[in-house]
Amino acid sequence: MAAQPADVLLVGGGAIGLAAAYRLAERGARVQVVDASGGRGASWAAAGMLAPVTEAAFGEDELTRLNLAAVPVFQRLVAQLQERTGHSVGLRTEGTLAVAFNSDDRAALDRLTDFRTGLGLSTQRLSGAATRALEPYLAAGVRGGVLAADDLSVDNRRYLDVLRQAAQAAGVRFVAAEVTGLLRGGSRVSGVRTATGAELTAGAVVLCGGAATGTLADVPVHPVKGQILRLAVPERLRAAGPVLTRTVRGIVRGGEIYLVPRPGGEVVVGATSEQQGHDTGVTAGGVYELLRNAYELLPISSEFDFVEARAGSRPGTPDNGPILGRLADGLVLATGHYRNGILLSALTADAVVALVAGEPPAPVWAPFSPGRFSADPPRTAPAEPAAAGLIR
Ligand code: GLY
Repeated sequence: MAAQPADVLLVGGGAIGLAAAYRLAERGARVQVVDASGGRGASWAAAGMLAPVTEAAFGEDELTRLNLAAVPVFQRLVAQLQERTGHSVGLRTEGTLAVAFNSDDRAALDRLTDFRTGLGLSTQRLSGAATRALEPYLAAGVRGGVLAADDLSVDNRRYLDVLRQAAQAAGVRFVAAEVTGLLRGGSRVSGVRTATGAELTAGAVVLCGGAATGTLADVPVHPVKGQILRLAVPERLRAAGPVLTRTVRGIVRGGEIYLVPRPGGEVVVGATSEQQGHDTGVTAGGVYELLRNAYELLPISSEFDFVEARAGSRPGTPDNGPILGRLADGLVLATGHYRNGILLSALTADAVVALVAGEPPAPVWAPFSPGRFSADPPRTAPAEPAAAGLIR
């Protein structure tokens, strides 16, 4: 018997695809997620920071607004997922401590403080002593810092696992296949073709495969490679005393890197930023750079166990903002989340549900339509559903 066509087929099973699949299935759609890597792309490699301001650059006001809008939506989704599955995603609330080694760093932290203050966010300036009181193992060269107490982090891998479980329980089907092209009937997209030549049909197709999306549609998304390490505080250090059980309290940024602690003693060290095309190989130079920078920020990290080195491709765009909208009848695009994919996943999921139903996404998405990169006048919000009647 031929498989029943999906109402909505999502190409990409990372944080964006899974969150959207879950929300669509909750609304009654028959949903399929097609992904060749089993969700082991950029979302799996990520650090899991939910840092709406520190992960945006100065001047990226619309992106910062989007990131800030994403935080409570993410928290609501996580609360629901944890309740439904009974599993924790390791949400942490200790904030980000950004530290300065010299006067240039200090000036950068002052700019960050002013930017955050202008957004109505409280930021605490700390002396060197106060900074070290918060994080006792920081290098002696740290001269001070600022605390962004509202930043959060999750264990991205637990989040993906929990999302997948919840999506499966809501009826989402997963297909392990590489999508090589779109099926079109006239101007309408009616499904996808896979590398084996199989054709999967659907009422609507959502392209949410991150940096790979550019191979399926004409969108200016490009890979920005990030290498990342996972280290762990070894048992012998933890046994040495209570302070060492929390060698890194919250997110720490300094020099060229960030450290993100996980429950259970793991510390993520990230990340390189390389324009290398579609390459996710781990290099000796990348690992060296991360370990050296980690040592300069937190010398005790050289005593940690080495757990993993991994690389992922962030989906970059010309203005660092995501690209979300309807590209054609039956075709929705949700990509380009660059450094903020985990944070933006829940907000994007709601926007994908709206687009599939033929409604405009929330106004905060207005600056991020695909039309902003075309020479033609930007397209307005979709007048019709991506595929009528898919959401019951
Ligand atoms: N959001 C962390 C990174 O892209 O490195």
